[in-house]
Amino acid sequence: MPIAVGDRLPAATFKTMTAEGVKEVTTADVFAGRKVVLFAVPGAFTPTCSKAHLPGYLANRDAILAKGVDEIVVTAVNDVFVMDAWSKANDADGKILFLADGAAAFVSAIGLTLDLTAAGMGVRSQRWSMLVDDGVVKELNFEEKPGVADLTGGACMLGHL
Ligand code: BEZ
Repeated sequence: MPIAVGDRLPAATFKTMTAEGVKEVTTADVFAGRKVVLFAVPGAFTPTCSKAHLPGYLANRDAILAKGVDEIVVTAVNDVFVMDAWSKANDADGKILFLADGAAAFVSAIGLTLDLTAAGMGVRSQRWSMLVDDGVVKELNFEEKPGVADLTGGACMLGHL
């Protein structure tokens, strides 16, 4: 069953790139006692994710943080090196936290996988956005149409805060 508003995020471990190299980050590290905007994309560097979804959060970052959000986080079923390259390609280091869910463990645990095997991409994440307060989902958004990042985008999230 997919995660819903009011549910607590399951315990999971991601990988992220730091100045000291690859580091493991847990859901407790990111969400405990904090208000976090988390969004997920089917794949780093894919067209909608790169041209619309990530840029929308970068453009609205300051306004989102000004509403009391501690951090904006993006996750995808990609390895940590791809996620790091995607962050750097978009000048997002230090602005948005990139969490690699490389084996799809987190997105499987929350029931939001997307089977892109036919596209040669395997199991990925659906496109979604969440507001998470102290580990509990307060808002959960999905797109109604493929190829857009509107309802899950930064401007829309800002409007919900
Ligand atoms: C995208 O444009 O974001 C996308 C393209 C193909 C598969 C998944 C996502």
